[in-house]
Order: sequence, then C-alpha cells, then structure tokens
Amino acid sequence: MNRSKDVGRTSGSLHSRRQGRFDSALADAVLIGHTSLERDNVRLGLPADLQELRTKHGQSRSPMRVIISNKGRIDERLKIFQSNISPIIVFSTKRMPQKNQKALQTKATLHLTDAKHVDLAVMLKTLRNQYKVGTLACEGGPTLFRALLEEDLIDQLNLTIAPHMFGGATAPTLTGLNNKFLPASVQCSLINMRTIENECFLIYRIKHQRGRRK
Ligand SMILES: NC(=O)c1ccc[n+]([C@@H]2O[C@H](COP(=O)([O-])OP(=O)(O)OC[C@H]3O[C@@H](n4cnc5c(N)ncnc54)[C@H](OP(=O)(O)O)[C@@H]3O)[C@@H](O)[C@H]2O)c1
Repeated sequence: MNRSKDVGRTSGSLHSRRQGRFDSALADAVLIGHTSLERDNVRLGLPADLQELRTKHGQSRSPMRVIISNKGRIDERLKIFQSNISPIIVFSTKRMPQKNQKALQTKATLHLTDAKHVDLAVMLKTLRNQYKVGTLACEGGPTLFRALLEEDLIDQLNLTIAPHMFGGATAPTLTGLNNKFLPASVQCSLINMRTIENECFLIYRIKHQRGRRK
C-alpha cells in the first residue's frame, strides 16, 4: 500500500530549506495543498546538486509534482505551471470551474472526482498504480498533513525545530488551525536526529493505528 511521507517544511533559514529539500530529494513525487501552493507560490523544484543526486539513483532529475484541492479554483498563472521540470498532477473534484479545467488541462493531468472531496487513500493508490509513485513527500500545509494523519496515511514525519517562539490560542500548529484533538493520539519513534547550527532536524517513524485506516 502506498503511503505518504511528510517532510515537515522548515522555518526560513538557508540551512532549513536546504536540509528539508535534501531529506525529500529522493521522493518519487511531492504533494502540496492548494493553500500552501497559492500562498507560497512555489515551483517545487530542486537545486542542481540534488537533481544530480537523483540521477545517480536512477531517478528523473525532479520529482513529479502533485497538487490537491477540493474546490479546484487553482490559478494557472502560479509559478508551478510556468515550469516544466516535471509532470504536474492535480487531484480535485468536478466542482473545479470549467474555466480552471480548461486552463489547467494543457499544463497538468487532472484527476477530478464526482465526490465533493478528494479521497486521499484513492489518490495514493492512483499515484502508485498509474504513476509508479512509491514514495510521496508531502510539503504541507498543516490542513493537508492533518487530513493524511487522521486517515493513518503517513509513514514518516520530518520535523525541524527552529529557535523561534510564538504562541497564543489562535497560533497555527503542526496539524493546522482545527482546535479539536485528533481522533486518536499518534505514536512516533525517532529514527534520526541532526543538528545544524541552531536547528534540529528530526525524522520520526509514525506508528500505524491498526483498524483506523479505511
Ligand atoms: N511551516 C511549515 O513547515 C509549512 C509547510 C507548508 C505550509 N506552510 C504554511 O501553511 C499555510 C497553508 O496551510 P493550510 O493548512 O492553510 O493549507 P494547506 O494544507 O496547504 O491546503 C489546504 C487546502 O488544500 C486542499 N486540501 C487539503 N486537504 C485536502 C483533502 N483531504 N482533500 C482535498 N483537498 C484538500 C484544499 O484546497 P481547496 O481549498 O482548494 O479545496 C484545502 O483548502 C501557508 O501559509 C504555508 O506557508 C507551512
């Protein structure tokens, strides 16, 4: 069964960005939620040395790029659609307005479900069966991460601890703004830890909850 791997994105420093990218560089595909894509306007590309690393491993220079949106109001002018470094696959619903469908069809492969929401497990199966994606790195954001976590679809969490403190009842968390507890607490085991200057890069294996997955 194909499962997703979160590669918890980092704070803003060069070390964080570089290490975060290194940790996910060998994934077959990278997944991003529509809000993060829109706000951060990322191409989801890799620097030249990490592209080289991929070719040494017999992979394409850049991972496939996967976007998820329920409403489908995705702007074709975003940077990701201006770069042809790797195929783009969009999972959305038939709620996507016709004008967006028309604009995106030439830039990406669209998978549009009749349902109101994208089924994450079905999406992962499609990526595995149709696109041979064995490892999927989720770049966030927190809402998408939480949804994957709730369905027990994550194998690994790459988490960066950066020395910046903030807080408050409405502060965003790893699992988004939803103020409800997760349906069950998630157990993790530490499999790697590195520190670079002030930052700590943690890799956790996530223990799957038997019987929770659909
Ligand atoms: N610190 C970090 O490491 C990190 C990492 C990534 C992002 N971020 C930040 O997080 C913020 C955005 O996060 P966010 O939690 O608001 O949004 P998000 O998770 O990036 O995206 C949420 C959107 O993705 C789509 N989506 C999510 N789950 C889905 C599901 N199960 N099925 C179908 N579509 C789904 C929906 O798009 P539609 O609304 O189009 O239906 C949803 O509104 C940005 O400010 C970004 O900079 C931080």
